Amino acid sequence: MRAVRGMRDILPKDRGIWRVAEKAAADVARRFGYEEIVTPVIEAAELIERVGEDTDAVAKELYRFEDRGGRKLALRPEATAGVVRAYFEGHLNQLPQPARLFLIGPMFRYNRPQKGRYRQFFQLDVEAIGGESPALDAEVIEIAATWLREIGLGDLRMDLNSIGDAKCRPAYLDLLRAYYRPLKDQLHGDCQRRLESNPLLLLDCKVPQCQPFKVDAPRITDHLCEECAAAWTAVRRLLDAAGIEYRHDPYLVRGLDYYTRTVFEFYPANRDGSQDALGGGGRYDGLAEAEGWPATPGVGFASGLDRVTEMMKETGAEVIAAPLAEVLVLADAGLEVAAAEVARICRTAISVAVDYEPKSLRAKMRSANKLGSRWVVLLSASEAGRRVAQLKNMASGEQAEVAWDDLPARLA
Ligand code: HAM
Repeated sequence: MRAVRGMRDILPKDRGIWRVAEKAAADVARRFGYEEIVTPVIEAAELIERVGEDTDAVAKELYRFEDRGGRKLALRPEATAGVVRAYFEGHLNQLPQPARLFLIGPMFRYNRPQKGRYRQFFQLDVEAIGGESPALDAEVIEIAATWLREIGLGDLRMDLNSIGDAKCRPAYLDLLRAYYRPLKDQLHGDCQRRLESNPLLLLDCKVPQCQPFKVDAPRITDHLCEECAAAWTAVRRLLDAAGIEYRHDPYLVRGLDYYTRTVFEFYPANRDGSQDALGGGGRYDGLAEAEGWPATPGVGFASGLDRVTEMMKETGAEVIAAPLAEVLVLADAGLEVAAAEVARICRTAISVAVDYEPKSLRAKMRSANKLGSRWVVLLSASEAGRRVAQLKNMASGEQAEVAWDDLPARLA
């Protein structure tokens, strides 16, 4: 029996780097005043579908199923729809606004697995819900940039665009359709279909035959309404002030349907191609309403932890792989009770494991070396009777007799 296609185990040897990424994420988010939220991995299929009918993650890649009670459910492909639901259901809308939230957890998309793309993957998701200030757009981008810098991935390319809102986008989409209609026969199949239903996606198309037409396509940032144009200017001014570099990408539209105004994606510098995105997000002022709640603005981003940790490994980001147990207690057979007690005493100060394997002391010392423990406590029957043990410093090789009760002080 093997793991399901597209799903993978993260083994203890790799978890260290994940822990560094997750801990830094939680630290940075808290420093910006964001609190952790956990929402279920299963949501009503309708919640997910309502907010993203035209999106690949929903239309083609959704894990959708019925439970034994006939409920139509989905494994969440992303977190935003569920976090917005929880914001209302948990009455966070009645607290001072905006609600600043972050979540770390698994997402599921039935896409073609490859390096950096999995069917179960993990996201850091950050959301500011209930505020419309463009300062929040810049704030979530600053969180992403700060976090990535702190885990050694500061060398980024940040792409930024505005895709307008319900007021100005329809007129722009008409312009875009009018531009593309005479070119329809030269576009690839998906783009021909999307031309009428969701022409914005034509700008995001990566198929070579569609590329030459983009350059002359009308740009949405030239057709924003007054409010969107003001927000677009404000976000860029705020990013400049924060010292965050970005590139205006007029073709950036993002894969999910719910975005309004600011959209952004970040990549490792020197790379291209959408599957390498380390993260992305934007403003979604229409999402709450699409879910059937009162209209409420929001902005956020998500970043794929699988990709981030892979990058950390590639760039050799400094991760000190702390040994699981700083101290290993080695005892002769028959001394299990004493060994467990010594471990219990040491544990008040430091992480400890006991080697209970029935093997020679020499073999146990070899394991201790492999595990990278800093200390070894050697226990013999005669010493156990006197409540003393040999404490060995694995780096220096020094060894001394220490009373059990003095161990925590010696180890701390
Ligand atoms: P997204 O761009 O669909 O946005 O996903 C965000 C990030 O998740 C991607 O940039 C990538 O790093 C990672 N990711 C996506 N699919 C996979 C996969 N199959 N395997 C590994 N990593 C993957 C969202 O999900 C939005 N909810 C972001 C957001 C939050 N917008 C506003 N708030």
